[in-house]
Amino acid sequence: MKNFVAIEELDLTEVHQLLDRATAFKQGETATPTPVFVANLFFESSTRTHLSFEVAERRMGMQVIPFDASQSSINKGESLYDTLLTLEAIGVEVAVIRHTENNYYEDLIPRLNMSIINGGDGSGHHPSQSLLDLLTIRETFGEIRGLNILISGDLLHSRVARSNAHILHQMGANLYFSGPTKWYDESFNRYGRHCEIDAVLPQMDVVMLLRVQHERHAAETSLTKDKYHDTYGLTIARAKQLKTTAIIMHPSPVNRGVEIADELVESSHSRIVEQMANGVYARMAILEAITNQKRGN
Ligand code: CP
Repeated sequence: MKNFVAIEELDLTEVHQLLDRATAFKQGETATPTPVFVANLFFESSTRTHLSFEVAERRMGMQVIPFDASQSSINKGESLYDTLLTLEAIGVEVAVIRHTENNYYEDLIPRLNMSIINGGDGSGHHPSQSLLDLLTIRETFGEIRGLNILISGDLLHSRVARSNAHILHQMGANLYFSGPTKWYDESFNRYGRHCEIDAVLPQMDVVMLLRVQHERHAAETSLTKDKYHDTYGLTIARAKQLKTTAIIMHPSPVNRGVEIADELVESSHSRIVEQMANGVYARMAILEAITNQKRGN
């Protein structure tokens, strides 16, 4: 695997291999130190993806080159390609990139020898989030095939939903979508169906909530945070309908009291903190696969 930019580019064998390696790292397997220079280029805000990649890189024994997008020559008009060409010239072999533009990597990959790991592109893909989500679901249920999974919220703007819907469908989950219809994208119809949250909640094994992406919305007057919570959110009353074995997931950052009641974020149903922890192991597995390819292993 030279690059890791979209979960759609992996077959199920590769996905399972990555999940197995992530599990091994979680169980304490240590990585052979990999003296590879890596840079993390984040042109959109991030806490979890950026920092858990950095922890994963350090745990893999990689050399992390600091890169602050706000202080880089991108601000002088340098293109992303020329920035990466520079990094490549000085010895950086892997770049983890988050960018506002969908598919920003398509023009870069054929022109560069370095590996690109996509840390999220606009509303396009978030493949490392998918991997950590699959790891979290697999840890709980062992098997993804046959699970009833609801993905609820701002589907239109969600790269997490797009990546997860594809791979969960591939792995045999039964998918349902809910949330405001104006934030629904009909392209999700190929994976499942849109429904009212109350109609399906008692049958769900996994309830995956999405952040309302205020920054991607025009000023909204009709749908207040309280109204969203009452109509579409996982309220305390709704959570009482969950199966005892059901789990709640959210990629975070969470808008407490909007997508999910504050009290449910750290409840016994919730795997939200586990998802954050699993991000390190999933990203270690990705980095290992990339560096193995580079070293011909
Ligand atoms: N889930 C996720 O991508 O979080 P960050 O935006 O904090 O990286």
